Amino acid sequence: MKTEDKLKRLEELNEQAQLGGGEKRIKAQHDKGRLTARERIDLLMDKGSFRETDRFVTHRCSDYDMEKNKILGDGVVTGYGRINGRPVCIFAEDFTVFGGSLSKAYAEKVCKLQDLALKMGCPVIGLKDSGGARIQEGVDSLAGYTDVFLRNVLSAGVVPQISAVMGPCAGGAVYSPAMTDFVIMVQGSFMFLTGPDVVKAATHEDVTFEELGGAMVHNEKSGVAHFAVESEIECMDLIKNLLSFMPQNNFEDPVKIETTDDINRMDEKLDVIIPDSTNIPYDMHAVLKLVVDNGDFLEVHEHFAKNLIVGFARFNGRAVGIVANQPAVLAGVLDNESAMKGARFVRFCDCFNIPIVTFVDVPGFLPGTAQEWGGVIKNGAKLLYAFCESTVPRITVITRKAYGGAYCVMSSKHTRADVNLAWPSAEIAVMGPSGAVKILYRKEIKEAKDPKTLEKQLIDEYTEKFANPFVTASKGYIDAVIKPSTTRPRIIEALELIENKRDTNPPRKHGNIPL
Ligand code: HXC
Repeated sequence: MKTEDKLKRLEELNEQAQLGGGEKRIKAQHDKGRLTARERIDLLMDKGSFRETDRFVTHRCSDYDMEKNKILGDGVVTGYGRINGRPVCIFAEDFTVFGGSLSKAYAEKVCKLQDLALKMGCPVIGLKDSGGARIQEGVDSLAGYTDVFLRNVLSAGVVPQISAVMGPCAGGAVYSPAMTDFVIMVQGSFMFLTGPDVVKAATHEDVTFEELGGAMVHNEKSGVAHFAVESEIECMDLIKNLLSFMPQNNFEDPVKIETTDDINRMDEKLDVIIPDSTNIPYDMHAVLKLVVDNGDFLEVHEHFAKNLIVGFARFNGRAVGIVANQPAVLAGVLDNESAMKGARFVRFCDCFNIPIVTFVDVPGFLPGTAQEWGGVIKNGAKLLYAFCESTVPRITVITRKAYGGAYCVMSSKHTRADVNLAWPSAEIAVMGPSGAVKILYRKEIKEAKDPKTLEKQLIDEYTEKFANPFVTASKGYIDAVIKPSTTRPRIIEALELIENKRDTNPPRKHGNIPL
C-alpha cells in the first residue's frame, strides 16, 4: 500500500472511530439529553490536550454473531490530557456502542490507562454510562471487570480517582465507581446492582430506575454518591473544582494558590454566633463561611447525614478538609451514617496530604435501638479510628458542646491533633448536665421535698463546673481558649506552623479499621 493510501486509510479509520455506534445512536443519546463520550471528554479537558489511546481496539467475541459487529473503540474512549494544566487519565463509557457495556477488550483499555496513571502519578477520571457486563462475553466480561476493580484498589490512596455517573450504571458497572474517592451523579442518571425486573421477580417490588438508584437516592439514602448535579456541564465544572483541592498523587501536597482574602480578617459576627441558650441551634455553615478564604466551601456528601458537614476549603490559599458537626440538624449528634461519612472523608484527606480542620459542637452519640442495632459502636469507631490513624496536620476548634465519646472522637488532642482551640462558649464534659445530674443524684432528687428545684440547682452547679472550656484548658487538653472572631487568623497561623509536620504510624501491612 502506498503511503498516500495508508494516510487515507488512517483518516477513514479515524472518522469511523469518531462515530462510535453510529449517527443514529448518537442522535438517540442526544435525544435523551445526554452527551456522547467524546463530547464529554472535550467539555472536561483543556482544549486540544486530549490524546486518545486504543482508538482502534475492537472486541474479540465470536458468540451471538458478534464478529459481524465490531466497532472501533469498543464501548469506551480512553486517553490522557490536562485539566487546568495538570495531567489526568480519563475514560468515558460510550453508550452508543453496545450500551457502553464492558467487554474484555474494553477492560484491557481501562486497565492500561489505570496502570499508566499509577506509574505517572496522576488522577483517573471515569465517566460512566453503561449497561454493565457485555452479556454476550459471559465470564470474559466478569474477568475484565475484576481486572479494573483490582486496579481501583491498588490505586486507592496513591492517585485520586473520581467517577461521574452520567447515564445508566448497571450491574458490574457499579463497583468501580464505588471504590473510587468521589462519585458524582447527574440528575437522570441511575446506578443499581440488580435492575427493576430482577427486583420485581425477587421481591415483587415495582420500582422505576429512578426510585431504585437515581441521583438523589444515592446522595440522600445510600450515600454511594457524594454529589448530585443538574447537568453534564455542571458535572465537569465540579470535577475541575474538586481536582483543584487535590495533589496529583500521594507524594505531593495540594497546590497552594494566591488568595484575595485578608489572612488577618476577623469577623465579629463570630463573637455572637453562638446562641445564649445551649439548646438553640445555629448553622455551622455560617461559621465556615466566615472563616475560610472568600467564604468558598465545596461541600462533599451535602445530602447525606447532614448532622455532620464535610468538604473542602482553603485558608490562605492552602487546601484543607473540613469536618464539622452541624448543630442545626439533629443537634449535631454523631450517628451511624455521619460517623461513616466522616471516617471516609478523613481517610481521603490523610491519603492525599490534605490538612484537616475540625469544628466541634456535638452533644454525643444518638441513643436508641435503631442506632445500637445499626452498629453505632462499630461505626462510631470508624471515625475515631480514622482520626487516630491520620498523620496530616490537624487543627480542632470546639465552638460549643463536646460531650462524652464524641469529644474523644472529634479530632481531640488525644487523637494526635496538633492545635486544639476552644471558644469561650465551649462545654466539654463527660456528658450533658441534665443526664449527668440524673445519674449522680438520682437518690437525692427522688427523696427531696422539692425534686424539681433540687434538680435545677444541681444542673446549674454541674453546668458552672463543666460547661466551659477552662477545666479542659487547665489540664492542657486544649491549647488555647480564643475569641471566636480571631478564628481565621489563628487557623492560618497554625496551618503555617504545622505545614511541614511529619508523623508516622508503626510499620504494618495495614491497620484493621472496624468495617
Ligand atoms: C450487552 C447491552 C447491555 C449489556 C445494554 N445493551 N446493556 N448489550 N450487554 N449489559 C445494549 C442493548 O441491547 C441495546 O442494543 C443497546 O445496548 C442500548 O440499550 P437499550 O436497552 O436500548 O437502552 P435503554 O433503553 O436506554 O436502557 C439502558 C439499560 C438497559 C437500562 C442500561 O439496556 C439495561 O437494562 N441493560 C442491562 C442492564 C443489566 O442488567 N446489566 C447487568 C449485566 S450483568 P441494541 O442493539 O438493541 O440497540 C452484570 C454482572 C457483572 O453486569 C458483575 C460483575 C461484578
